[in-house]
Amino acid sequence: MKKPSDTKSQREQLRNSIIGLGERSIRKSYYPELQKRIAELEKANEELLLEVTNRQRAQATQRKLEGLLQQSQKMEAIGTLAGGIAHDFNNILSAIIGYTELAKLSLLRTDFTEKAKVTNDLEQVLQAGQRAKELVKQIVSYSRQQNQPRKPIQVNTIIREALRLLHASIPKSVEIRENIADHDTLILGDPTEIHQIIMNLCTNANHAMRDKGGILAIELVPTEIHPDDEKSTTLRLTPGPYLLLKICDNGRGMEKAIQDRIFDPYFTTKESGEGTGIGLAVVHGIVKSHNGHISVYSEPGKGSSFLIYLPRIVREDVRKDEIHTIETPAGTERILVIDDEVIIADMEQRLLESLGYQVTSITSPFDALHLISAQPHRYDLVLTDMTMPRMNGAELAQKILRIRADMPVILCTGFSEMMNEKKARAIGIRDYVMKPLIRKDIAEAIRKVFDA
Ligand SMILES: Nc1ncnc2c1ncn2[C@@H]1O[C@H](COP(=O)(O)OP(=O)(O)OP(=O)(O)O)[C@@H](O)[C@H]1O
Ligand SMILES: [Mg+2]
Repeated sequence: MKKPSDTKSQREQLRNSIIGLGERSIRKSYYPELQKRIAELEKANEELLLEVTNRQRAQATQRKLEGLLQQSQKMEAIGTLAGGIAHDFNNILSAIIGYTELAKLSLLRTDFTEKAKVTNDLEQVLQAGQRAKELVKQIVSYSRQQNQPRKPIQVNTIIREALRLLHASIPKSVEIRENIADHDTLILGDPTEIHQIIMNLCTNANHAMRDKGGILAIELVPTEIHPDDEKSTTLRLTPGPYLLLKICDNGRGMEKAIQDRIFDPYFTTKESGEGTGIGLAVVHGIVKSHNGHISVYSEPGKGSSFLIYLPRIVREDVRKDEIHTIETPAGTERILVIDDEVIIADMEQRLLESLGYQVTSITSPFDALHLISAQPHRYDLVLTDMTMPRMNGAELAQKILRIRADMPVILCTGFSEMMNEKKARAIGIRDYVMKPLIRKDIAEAIRKVFDA
C-alpha cells in the first residue's frame, strides 16, 4: 500500500510539470507582452493609490482650514459687538474717573473733618475705575480694534515679571516649573497683552489643579518654521523665526466637546463669580493680532497644554522704554475743548483748569470752527473728541488746520476708533489720547505738544 506522502509528492510533480508546460507554451508566444502589461497595470495601480491618499490628505487639510476660518469669522463678528460695548462703557468711565479726580482736588482745598475718609473712599472709586479700564482693555484686545503700537519687546522678561506676580497667588500645592529662553525672544508686540496671555493661561491652569495640586510648566523657546514644515500650512503660519510658548498643567483636563468651545467668548464651565469665559477669547484675539497661532491638547483627568507660536524678530534694537515722569506737568496756555457730550466737555474743562490752563469748552464742532476762523490765535491748542455726529474730530482737525496750519490739535479717541501714529500724522494732528482721560496722561500729552 502506498504511503500518503508518496501520493502527495507524485501529485506535486504532476502539477509542476503541467505548469511548466503551460508556462513554456505561454512564454513562446505571449509571455513578454503579458509581463509588460502586468507591469503597466501594477504601476497604474500604484499611481492610483498614491492619488487617492494625496486627495484624502488634501481633503482633510481643507476641512481643517475651513473649520479654522469659520472659527475666526465667528470670533470677528462677536469681536465687533464687544468693541461696541467697550465704547459705551468707556464713556461712562470717563465721567467716573474725571469727576472723582476733581472731587479729590476740591477736597484738598476745603476744610472738612471727614476729609481723610472721603479722600480714601474716592481713592477706592478711582481704583475701581482703573480696574474697569483694564476690563475694557481685556474686551478690546480681544476685539482687536485697539491698534496698539507694536514695539520690539523681550518676551522672556515679560514672562518672568508675570511669573513673579503669579508666585504670590498660586498655592504651595502647585509646583511651578520654568524653562524660559534667555536669548532670541524678541517680538514686535504689546507688553501688556503678552502679560495678559500668561496671566490668563496660568490662572486657568491653576484653577484646573486646585483640587489636587500639580505641576504648572511654562516653557519659552525660540524656533523656526521652514517652508516645507507641515505647520506652515496646518497652522497657517508664514515660514520664519518664531517663539514657542507652552503652558502645561496636569490638572482636570477637558473633553473634546469642551475643547471645541473654550475660545468662544463667554464660554465657561465655572460657577458664576468664578469666571466669565472671556480669558481664552482674549488670549486668542491677542495671539491672532500678533499673527501667531494657539492650539490646545488636553485629556480629561490628565491635564492640558496650550501651545502658542508668535513671530519673532531678529533685530536687536530694543528701544529704551520711555521714562515716566512722576509729577503731573501743568501750564497756563489757552485751550479749546470740543466734545459733543456736555458732561464730558465740562469735565475735561475742569480737569485742564485744575492744571492751570485757561479753558473754553463747547459741544459743537461747527461753533469751534466759527471761533477759530474769527480769531485764529485766540487758542494755543485744541483738544477734540473723535466721535461726534455730523463732523468727527478728524474732519474738524483738518478744517482747523486749513484755517491755521500750525494749530496744535490733540484728538481724544475711544477704543473703537482705529487710530495710530501714522493715521494721526496723515490728518496733521500732533497727538492723540485714549479715553477715558486720566489727568496725568492728558497733562503729559499737552505738555509734550507745547514743549515740542
Ligand atoms: N488649563 C485648563 N484645564 C482645564 N480646563 C480649562 C483650562 N483652561 C480653560 N479651561 C476651560 O475653558 C473654559 C474657558 O476658559 P476661559 O479662560 O476663557 O474662561 P474662564 O476661565 O471660565 O473665565 P475667565 O477667564 O473669564 O475668568 C473654562 O471655564 C474651563 O472649562
Ligand atoms: Mg480663564
